[in-house]
Amino acid sequence: MELNFAYYKSIADYVRERIKVEPEVGIILGSGLGKFADTIEAPIVLPYSEIPGFPVSTVASHAGKLICGKVHGKTVLCMAGRFHHYEGYDFRLLSLPIRLFKLLGVKTAIVTNAAGGVNTSFRVGDVMLISDHIKLTSLSPMEGPNLEEFGDRFFDVSDMYTRRLRDLAKSLAPESGLNIREGVYMYFAGPQFETPAEIRLARLLGADAVGMSTVTEALTAAHCHMPLLGMSVITNMAAGVVPDAVINHEEVGEAADAISERFVKFVGEIIKAL
Ligand code: HPA
Repeated sequence: MELNFAYYKSIADYVRERIKVEPEVGIILGSGLGKFADTIEAPIVLPYSEIPGFPVSTVASHAGKLICGKVHGKTVLCMAGRFHHYEGYDFRLLSLPIRLFKLLGVKTAIVTNAAGGVNTSFRVGDVMLISDHIKLTSLSPMEGPNLEEFGDRFFDVSDMYTRRLRDLAKSLAPESGLNIREGVYMYFAGPQFETPAEIRLARLLGADAVGMSTVTEALTAAHCHMPLLGMSVITNMAAGVVPDAVINHEEVGEAADAISERFVKFVGEIIKAL
């Protein structure tokens, strides 16, 4: 399968035909944050497996379906289940969700993830508004022939995590019952969690949280000029931050579940205020 414009367009055409509306907001849900999908009213559900040419998410806690419906009167398209490089997907294919949003008319993207806290003032259950990211691998979702239909070959990423949207989220923070932080997300490819030495390096470099997703989506959004809000739920302190602690995927899920209700409500309030 060649990742040319026709590929993205064929998927968008199929989805448009099924949902029959133009979504205003596109949302990608991270590990353990799937409950947002339950708040979507009058949902039209498209399992990824039904969409010709669409990859299938292999992470058990990721549902693997597109859900289109209303949240606070706004039409949203939600990806419950995202794709990660560690599943074996090429960085280039990881541009698909945001490019699909773009072709369907989405004006604002919201991406969430579970992340490990690197900043020692962070606590499990905090929510970090992503202000910027660090990605030390040279891979990019925009490598290969540039698709001019989406954006320019060389593109600016200095306001990738749109300041206006972060400010909006901050203005809603006091009523959220959540501890809202802001900081830099550092990407590690995974699927192993990081080593304590890697986390010390991350902190030296200015990272506040680490995770295995999101950066490809953010880069794709910047390429096609889509405003983006990125949020990390701190589900654990990163490796070595708490002496002798071990990190496991269950703990990540449990920590996400613990704040899920408040977080889902917060995302809803943000959508309402857009
Ligand atoms: N590291 C990377 N990804 C993660 C972590 C972590 O500590 N927690 C949740 N996702």
